[in-house]
Amino acid sequence: MTRIFSGVKPTGHMTLGNYLGAVRRWVEVDQREAEALFSVVDLHALTVEHDPARVRRLSRQAVTVLLAAGIDPELCTLFVQSHVEEHTRLSYLLECTAGDGELRRMIQYREKAGLARESGQGVRLSLLTYPVLMAADILVYGTDEVPVGDDQAQHVELTRDLAIRFNQRYGHTFTVPKATRPPVGARIMDLQDPLSKMGKSHESTAGIVYLLDEPDTVRRKVMRAVTDSGSGVVYDRESAPGVTNLLEILAACRGGDPAELAGTYSSYGTLKKDTAEAVVELVRPVRERHARLAADPGFVDEVVRKGADRARELARPRVDAAYAAIGLLPR
Ligand code: TYM
Repeated sequence: MTRIFSGVKPTGHMTLGNYLGAVRRWVEVDQREAEALFSVVDLHALTVEHDPARVRRLSRQAVTVLLAAGIDPELCTLFVQSHVEEHTRLSYLLECTAGDGELRRMIQYREKAGLARESGQGVRLSLLTYPVLMAADILVYGTDEVPVGDDQAQHVELTRDLAIRFNQRYGHTFTVPKATRPPVGARIMDLQDPLSKMGKSHESTAGIVYLLDEPDTVRRKVMRAVTDSGSGVVYDRESAPGVTNLLEILAACRGGDPAELAGTYSSYGTLKKDTAEAVVELVRPVRERHARLAADPGFVDEVVRKGADRARELARPRVDAAYAAIGLLPR
């Protein structure tokens, strides 16, 4: 059976980018063919300035949104990362496998460390080691496939390198995983700044569609999306990033090929209107189910408690094997 693992970090409200790039595909996993684990990776939210109460609130909300999106806890394992100590146990061994140079080269580290420095904040050491913890998240379950958006490809590449290196040095311990990306929607851009990724924790929220936004808010954000001066509705990231982003979103919501869709529009206005409606319809059931589930926090707690028990059971033997392989005395 294929083993699948992926995660989302509770640093902000979940976005349309998270949904189209990752979460929607988690829901589509055929559970008869694969054993899947999905996690709200809360430890990763501590790598930048954070407010404890907010992280706690966003963690619960993320679990609730995943359930609302259709993750079925009877068919897969849904849990909160910090409830399963095996991730951090393994992370240390992988820190002893990784080199500091390869971590300093990570694009996300360079971007986020740069931003933190610019705003006069310190850079937490955990921001540098973050991809190693992410590798542990993945390797601890013997994962074959990691469904993620494009921005995580480099981290999964590092995970593969660490798995191969550990196996070569200490004997076969880890499955070497691969990232899987959606054909359309792997990189949804900010509607106000189509050269930047639509990210949860941007300062300005005008270009970010959140999964729990009200329909009118979604419409307003999409109708005000920045488009490109000139050349009509064309699918070309270089010359028309704004329009291309709208075509990607529309194609990801409705199905179809964004380049072909471009030929069916002659005005930005109609493209925006159709895109807005497609997004509203796609996220409507998630928002409605979220409202019902949020009224029952006891259910959500129970789901993650059971999920953590199952995840721990799966993780422990592999971490124990890694501890033995690397030369630590068995307990
Ligand atoms: P995070 O929380 O930033 O994003 C969660 C998932 O959403 C995808 N994504 C996007 N896809 C398309 N367009 C966008 N604008 C967009 N924004 C986000 C991300 O690619 C991701 O798949 N480091 C990870 C969390 C993590 C993880 C893991 C993932 C920790 N451990 C192990 C997989 C496996 C992150 O920051 O994702």
